[in-house]
Amino acid sequence: PPASGSPSTAKGQAGAAAVAAVVPAVSGPVVLGLATGSSPLGLYRELERAQGEGRVDLRAAHGVALDEYVGLPAGHPQSYREVLRREVGDRLGIDDARLHVPDGAHDDEASLAAAAADYEETIRGLGGVDVQILGIGVNGHLGFNEPGSALTSRTRVKRLAASTREENARFFDSVDDVPTHCVTQGLGTVLSARRLVLVATGEAKARAVANAVEGPLTASCPASVLQWHADAVAVLDEAAAGLLA
Ligand code: F6R
Repeated sequence: PPASGSPSTAKGQAGAAAVAAVVPAVSGPVVLGLATGSSPLGLYRELERAQGEGRVDLRAAHGVALDEYVGLPAGHPQSYREVLRREVGDRLGIDDARLHVPDGAHDDEASLAAAAADYEETIRGLGGVDVQILGIGVNGHLGFNEPGSALTSRTRVKRLAASTREENARFFDSVDDVPTHCVTQGLGTVLSARRLVLVATGEAKARAVANAVEGPLTASCPASVLQWHADAVAVLDEAAAGLLA
């Protein structure tokens, strides 16, 4: 895709290309794995457009979130349940009962561990994820599996890297308001999805993308687990692809 244009145009173009990777595999009661953050927004808009034009029908789909913050009260606008409701559920007609998000609204370890285990059970009960949409962190994180995460990990509570909290401060009043922990699908959970579609745009992601796609398979770059998957697609603009050999 062309690299020129504003970042949002680049996102839209990457979104359109990602739809080409997603749509043949999704329609009807599929299980769609949903990342939050900026990267997949163009893709979500394009899916909405494709549905409006009758090219896809996701109204019966299930949405499965990658992760959720710990400690935000139910209904907090930056909780990933609310973000996914606004950006995906409401737009594609996927109702709340079919939007699955880990429950991070607990303040004790045992309840959070139980919520993480329940989430694995939910995904299993749905028959697994058909297409998992992913973004990548500047530090190579996947979901909120920060560098050092076990490559076969399952859904669990994790501490957010200081750099991730700073990156996500743009969604909150200040970095102090960004939660310190999350419940995230593990790398092993992500790898269980039948297809992975990673969307990345912009120069800031170029190093992480190169490490993920061409570097060694290592916990130092959690997204390098993509190399382990038999059906993983990376949709990149030229800036994000800039450090690929
Ligand atoms: C989001 C998530 C994160 C983001 C990543 C990139 O659910 O799990 O891994 O995909 O932090 O964020 P953006 O797209 O905002 O650059």
